[in-house]
Amino acid sequence: MGDAPALTGPDFTQGIDLSDIPEGGMLLGNANGEAVLLVHHGGDVFAVAATCTHYGGPLADGILNAGVVRCPWHHACFDARTGEAVRPPALNPLRRWTAERRGSRVFVGQPLAAPSPPRKRSSAVESVVIVGAGAAGNAAAETLRREGYAGFVTMIGAEPTVPVDRPNLSKDYLAGTAQEEWVWLRGQEFYSAQEIELVLGARVVALDPKARRVQLSDGTSRSYGALVLATGAEPVKLTVPGSDKPLVHYLRSLADSRAIIASTQGAARAVVVGASFIGLEVAASLRTRGLEVHVVAPDARPLERIMGAELGDFVRALHEEHGVHFHLRHTVGTIEDGAVLLDDGTRLPADLVVAGVGVRPAVALAEQAGLRVDRGVVVDEHLESSAPGVYAAGDIARWPDPSSGKSIRIEHWVVAERQGQTAARNILGAREAFRAVPFFWSQHYDVPISYVGHAEGWDGVEVAGSIAERSCLVAFRTGGRIAAVASIGRDRESLRAEALLERGDQAGLEALLANVGK
Ligand SMILES: Cc1cc2nc3c(=O)[nH]c(=O)nc-3n(C[C@H](O)[C@H](O)[C@H](O)COP(=O)(O)OP(=O)(O)OC[C@H]3O[C@@H](n4cnc5c(N)ncnc54)[C@H](O)[C@@H]3O)c2cc1C
Ligand code: FES
Repeated sequence: MGDAPALTGPDFTQGIDLSDIPEGGMLLGNANGEAVLLVHHGGDVFAVAATCTHYGGPLADGILNAGVVRCPWHHACFDARTGEAVRPPALNPLRRWTAERRGSRVFVGQPLAAPSPPRKRSSAVESVVIVGAGAAGNAAAETLRREGYAGFVTMIGAEPTVPVDRPNLSKDYLAGTAQEEWVWLRGQEFYSAQEIELVLGARVVALDPKARRVQLSDGTSRSYGALVLATGAEPVKLTVPGSDKPLVHYLRSLADSRAIIASTQGAARAVVVGASFIGLEVAASLRTRGLEVHVVAPDARPLERIMGAELGDFVRALHEEHGVHFHLRHTVGTIEDGAVLLDDGTRLPADLVVAGVGVRPAVALAEQAGLRVDRGVVVDEHLESSAPGVYAAGDIARWPDPSSGKSIRIEHWVVAERQGQTAARNILGAREAFRAVPFFWSQHYDVPISYVGHAEGWDGVEVAGSIAERSCLVAFRTGGRIAAVASIGRDRESLRAEALLERGDQAGLEALLANVGK
């Protein structure tokens, strides 16, 4: 999380010349001891908080796009006029102040009230049941209420806690630099106030789409008018001899992260199996806790399949600088109490083992219900499955991607949240196609990597800027077209690339790359 920024720039209570903020521009300053961003859009000026409500990202370092402020860190979007968080991962609006024009000057004054609660709207759908209390499920529940839905909303989650900030479980929380309060997305009181029924620690064990009913592991059942399936994904388990020993861990839930933390007590050495994002983030966090860490993976380079050779080499070097030992082009043969044996006979002493070897979408419920499943729950552009009234969102959903023309399934936090929002709006009749450009981030020590777009395979990788200097854009081309852009230390350009991908503006993307490369 970011600290409160030191106050810089002009004191807006003293007034500022409008000519200092060009139309379409933003200016950082302060008012009454708070960092404030003045936004000039459509001939109006708005004063909003300068700090993102997600992790405190500095909004002045982001971009303004059609009256929407985009955060440089994880691409949340805020409406400058209302302060509302219109795109995750931020959930809460920005504070606002009056921005009064007196002649050619603008003065920031009193705080403005938060956006008023939406007017209740009637809906043909009497009740919505959400299966899975994760990123997509939570976003769906919140969006239903934000849109004024007045019917029953029930969210059923197998984990015993309120929804958590899952990405944090391998990063600050696991490293010991974030307290547990930071991982809750919302407190229990939020759901009570929003009249969202939470059924936690219970699994949906059967779904009958014809009867519009689900059965829970606690023996109860619920009927629904519409259903959101948001059951996420489950870690792939190791199958080598010894995989069932208690020193072997996986990481998906808060309970998993707590268990890994508990196992580090008195531990000196850890083996991470898999050079995946999660595996490497775990490696970084365990190094922060002072453990010796060995990473074992069959790949030639970490993350090469997703990020290409150049970024893969960078990530490997970064982890080696922090003392991580790699055993690449190797697999685990056997796990013993206190050691991992590799395929070539190497013996790595280990007090704990964390496997990050991928996930599988949790589609068992959908399969049992007879929904169309193909490496994920198949949905249409509105995220509706083959069963009318049953929507799927997040890691389990396979949807038609308008950009590539392929059906894709993606495991990113922000995508899951945005799909939860779209599913909710479509339940209320919006008929909104899911067209978002995917975005994810990953954090390794003090180096965040951002990625916009989607390229499952590519025929060209182009680096603009310098990876070694941690200031670059890396473009992934398919058929000559830029399909995705990864970046380090170039947050504003990453936001621009996202906006250009949204518009399908290839010429703009080429110009952006050329500019960074200069
Ligand atoms: C440790 C970790 C770090 C990550 N870091 C990043 C990151 O930095 N950036 C990024 O973009 N993405 C990251 N991800 C991926 C991201 O968290 C997922 O893409 C996202 O959580 C998917 O949301 P979801 O709602 O589909 O699933 P989830 O958030 O997994 O939620 C699904 C929920 O459904 C519950 N459930 C499953 N079956 C049932 C059932 N039958 N009945 C009731 N409940 C059920 C599960 O217990 C779970 O709580 C990370 C994932 C992990 C595990
Ligand atoms: S800090 Fe702004 S989106 Fe995360």
